[in-house]
Amino acid sequence: MARAAATNVTANAGFGRCLLDLDRLTADQIRTVLRRAHEFAQLHPGERLETLRGRSVANLFFEDSTRTRVSFSVAARRLGADVFDLTSKGSSVSKGETVADTALTVEAMGVDALVVRHAASGAVDLVANAVQCAVLNAGDGRHAHPTQGLLDALVFATAHRRCNEFDFSGLRIAIVGDLANSRVARSDIAVFSKLGASVVCAGPENLAPRHLEALGCRVTNNLDEALDGCDGVQMLRVQLERGAALGSAREYTRRFQLNGERAAGMKPGAIVMHPGPMNRDVEITSEVADGERSRILAQVAAGVPVRMAALTLAIEAMDTQPRSR
Ligand code: CP
Repeated sequence: MARAAATNVTANAGFGRCLLDLDRLTADQIRTVLRRAHEFAQLHPGERLETLRGRSVANLFFEDSTRTRVSFSVAARRLGADVFDLTSKGSSVSKGETVADTALTVEAMGVDALVVRHAASGAVDLVANAVQCAVLNAGDGRHAHPTQGLLDALVFATAHRRCNEFDFSGLRIAIVGDLANSRVARSDIAVFSKLGASVVCAGPENLAPRHLEALGCRVTNNLDEALDGCDGVQMLRVQLERGAALGSAREYTRRFQLNGERAAGMKPGAIVMHPGPMNRDVEITSEVADGERSRILAQVAAGVPVRMAALTLAIEAMDTQPRSR
């Protein structure tokens, strides 16, 4: 079903044409995205809007993805936009073209928004500085994954009935595992702390650096201490491809795996999240991943309205404040 536009969407509130990380947004701007995402989440999944009819969105994924790439595509199509996909393999990136030249080339074809994922931290900033269209960070190196942080916040708010104000005062979130290599951890720390939650990070000594405390969280090497009294936990994947030194797998699972016994001891109403992809039976057991506290598929589902909100806000900002960031 098509309809003219999402007429009652929340106002833009100074959102810029680029969504690069959540550190650069105020709590009010984060709430603006989440309110708009919450409105989009109320629509029937088959409902198509015309908000971005005649606009086009290009996915430039220089690193693999399932959830982020597909949900940005679904989001853009549900808004009525045309969507183009480009990956390193099969494009001129494989011949040595730079990321900035690739982005400028695609922009020159009249694209309104670039959704960019890259293995190097800062690569998406580089693209944003090169082009004039909207740019959305779909994950860069260990730096940031802003739409993941936003969708995690939407799921947490829904579970704890905080979607009216998106105020997490009095709630605690635990973020557990390979914090050193995680862009999700950095975006989650930013969004949850800005919305008023208490954030505790837990991981082994080599993967949970104390300097993360400068971002507004507490760091511990004791999972049971982090889980005690928390209202939700985000389990992170051990990123072997980014050089995470697991040490003994048996020791890692003994100390940091979320298993059935640990999940059963969590506070009533506490939820389990994981951004995916999961290493089943490493950081989380299948019993917990598929259990009643799990909101892992709800996170995947929330990716669509969050990315609809981010795309509309960024393109609106580009239309009204060219070159603003
Ligand atoms: N959570 C996340 O970024 O998953 P993908 O790598 O599948 O996009």
